[in-house]
Amino acid sequence: MKLLKGTILSFANNPFLVDINDSVKLIESGGVLVDGSFIRDVGEFSKLKSNYPHARVYNYGKNLITSGFVDCHMHYPQTAIIASYGKRLLDWLNEYTFPEEKKFTDKNYARKVASLTLDLCIKNGTTTLASFCTTSINSVDAFFEEAKKRNMSVIAGKTCMDRNAPEYLIDSVNSAYDDSKRLIKKWHNSNRSYYAITPRFAPTSTPEQLDSLGSLWSEYPDCLMQTHLSEQKEEIEWVSKLFPESDSYLDIYDKFNLVKKNSIFGHCIHLKGNEIEMLKERQSSIAHCPTSNTFIGSGIFKMKEISSKKINIGLATDTGGGTSFSMLRTISEAYKISQLNNFSIHPAQLFWLATVGSSISLGLESKIGNIKKGYYADLIVINLASTIEIEQRQKRAKNFWESFFPTLIMGDDRAITKTWVNGNEIKNKLY
Ligand code: GUN
Ligand code: ZN
Repeated sequence: MKLLKGTILSFANNPFLVDINDSVKLIESGGVLVDGSFIRDVGEFSKLKSNYPHARVYNYGKNLITSGFVDCHMHYPQTAIIASYGKRLLDWLNEYTFPEEKKFTDKNYARKVASLTLDLCIKNGTTTLASFCTTSINSVDAFFEEAKKRNMSVIAGKTCMDRNAPEYLIDSVNSAYDDSKRLIKKWHNSNRSYYAITPRFAPTSTPEQLDSLGSLWSEYPDCLMQTHLSEQKEEIEWVSKLFPESDSYLDIYDKFNLVKKNSIFGHCIHLKGNEIEMLKERQSSIAHCPTSNTFIGSGIFKMKEISSKKINIGLATDTGGGTSFSMLRTISEAYKISQLNNFSIHPAQLFWLATVGSSISLGLESKIGNIKKGYYADLIVINLASTIEIEQRQKRAKNFWESFFPTLIMGDDRAITKTWVNGNEIKNKLY
C-alpha cells in the first residue's frame, strides 16, 4: 500500500449549491491511502500512518493533493494544429482541422498524436479526458490503445459526418452506424475506457445519420453522446437554414433522441431560453470551453444564468480550438469570461468545474474526479508556489483560498509536481 502525505482537498458537496464551507473538505497534514488502483482511506496522516505502518510513504510536504483534472471535451486529432491563426469556426474547420484529421487514417500517425496528447495531459495533471476522434476507426483504436497502455480512464468516439465536409473525411449513414457499433462493443466499459456516440455537429450530419445514431444510442443507452451546440452565430444561422423546420439548434438533436442525461454538449454559448430549459429538464451536461471561446471568438458563456438553473457544467480545453492543455489555464480563462458576465466564480467552484463537474458530465462521478474511499487513485500534487510571481503573491495570502487562487489564475504545468494514474505515480517522459 502507498500513503501520500500533503494537504488534501476534496468535495463533500456542490459549491454552486451549498455554502463553500459545507462544500470543501481540507485536511492539512492529511493522507491518502492507496491500495492497488483505488483510494482505500483518507484522513489525518498520523492516524493513517499508525493504522498502516507498512504503507510506503510519499511525502509531498505542504503541497496540495487533489483529484486529477477531468477534461470533458477535447479533440486529440487537433493537437498538431493548436494555435492556428486568425479564423472563425467554419473556416478554421475547413482550413486547418479537416486537412489535419485526414492524416488519421494512418494508424501510426494516429498513435503518435494520441501518445503525445495523453502525455501532455498527464504532464498538465489531467487524468481523464473525453476526446472526439476522426471519422476513421483507426483514430479511435489508436487513442483507446494508447490510453490503455497508461491505465487512463478515457472517453472517446468516432466522429460521424456524412455531409458538408471534404470527401476524404465523409462517412455514410450505414458506415457510421456499423463502425460506431463495432467500436462500442470493442471499447465501451473495457478496462477504463468508455464510448461516446459522436456526431460532430448538426451541420455535418444528414437527418438520416442523426436518426440512425439516435437508434444506436437506444441500443446502448449507457454510452455517452457528445457533440457541439450553439457555438458561433454564423454556425447557428447555417444550422437554421439546414434544418428550417426545427425550432432551435437543440430541437434538432432532440428530434433524433439525442438529448438525454448522458448527453454532453460542447460550448452552448448562444442558447435560447427554451434550450436552457430543455437541458435542465433532460439533465444533460454542458462542456464549457473558455480558451476556445475566446480564441475562435465564439462569445461569452453565461455561467451565472446557466449554473443558477442547476444544469451540470464541466470544464474542457477543446484543444486544438482551445489554446492550452492545462486545466489551470482553462480555469483562469473561465474565471475571466465569467467576470465579463458579472459573476465572480469562487475558487472552490472553479476547481469543482474542472474535477467533479466534469466527472458528472461523463457519468463517472462515483469513480473519479474526487478524493473518496473506493474512487480510483487518479491524483495530482499541486505546488502552490510554482513560480516566483505566484510565490510572492501566495506568501501574502490570509487564508487557504487566497493562497490557492494565484495558482488557479497564473498556474500551468509547472504547478503540477506529480500526477498519479490508477494508483501509480507517473514517470512521464515529458517531465
Ligand atoms: N464544431 C464542430 N466541430 C468543431 C471542432 O472541431 N471544434 C470546435 N471548437 N467546434 C466545432
Ligand atoms: Zn469541440
